[in-house]
Amino acid sequence: MALGAVSATAQTVSITPQEHGPQQQEFVHGAPHVASLEWTIAAGGRIYDNWWEALDRDEPEATNPAYPVDVNGEQSGAGTWRCKECHGWDYMGAGGVYSKGSHFTGIKGLLAMRGVPPESLLATLRDENHPYTEEMISAEEMMRVATFVAKGLVDMRPFINLETRQVIPGVGDVDRGRAIFQTTCAACHGFDGRALDWGEGDEHNFVGTEAAELPDEVFNKLSNAHPGVAMINLSAFSVEDRVSVLRYIASLPTGLDD
Ligand code: HEC
Ligand code: HEC
Repeated sequence: MALGAVSATAQTVSITPQEHGPQQQEFVHGAPHVASLEWTIAAGGRIYDNWWEALDRDEPEATNPAYPVDVNGEQSGAGTWRCKECHGWDYMGAGGVYSKGSHFTGIKGLLAMRGVPPESLLATLRDENHPYTEEMISAEEMMRVATFVAKGLVDMRPFINLETRQVIPGVGDVDRGRAIFQTTCAACHGFDGRALDWGEGDEHNFVGTEAAELPDEVFNKLSNAHPGVAMINLSAFSVEDRVSVLRYIASLPTGLDD
């Protein structure tokens, strides 16, 4: 085929959630017939991040009655229903990044739950601190979150300085991170991470911007994927590989002019 013909038929590949075909919808919101542990953990991680985007449910309107508004009056509305809002992107609650600032609640982290049988967490996930109905998160879906908590949490302290919220220099293998990024993430985010921009107006937010500012959040997104969009995830890759990718993307451009 002549080069001209290629450019004449070239189309922008759309990845907005609304335009997903049925196959992609199944990938984004459905479940495989025979679920691997890696898929289950990542699916649980997306529920932990934002269950209504992950599960295609209605976004809650009212503030979560369990949210401690007396401790933190800065947060309200749907966000207070996200697991990460009380327990953190680093799963350390008040012991981690959320020990201060606009997300402080004083609530404990979840790292101590690693290794428990997932079923043993289900009663807690429906108690007075967790007023999730079956319409919001079904029993099967709650089991995925429990599996994520029991088997998917990673202690980020060895590679993220939770005080400064920066990737610790020298962690991981930057060449390995580059190799994984260029062969997976770049399909959508571009080789320099600037093909997707979720910033608003003049504020650009590229994968490099987010890794430089919110590495604990980015580690969740690359491990489990961003809820509600057809993004891949590195759940089946080792923690070492994921740390290498985080280190590499923290070196990508953070703005348009870099
Ligand atoms: C509104 C705040 C809030 C949200 C949102 C929240 N939790 Fe909790 N969670 C708590 C509180 C409070 C406790 C009890 C902490 C304590 O015992 O000191 C708790 C305890 C837990 C525990 C038990 C920890 C332990 O050491 O016994 C687990 C597991 C847990 N939460 C998981 C989750 C998951 C998964 C989600 C999302 C589906 C979630 N939480 C959402 C407030 C919250
Ligand atoms: C198939 C396409 C695709 C691939 C491959 C992909 N992503 Fe994404 N990613 C997306 C889309 C779509 C979004 C949502 C962007 C938006 O909100 O506008 C996204 C969002 C993100 C976000 C930001 C989420 C937020 O808003 O906080 C991060 C971080 C991210 N991706 C990292 C990665 C990394 C790292 C890889 C490789 C492991 C990767 N992505 C691979 C499509 C992809």
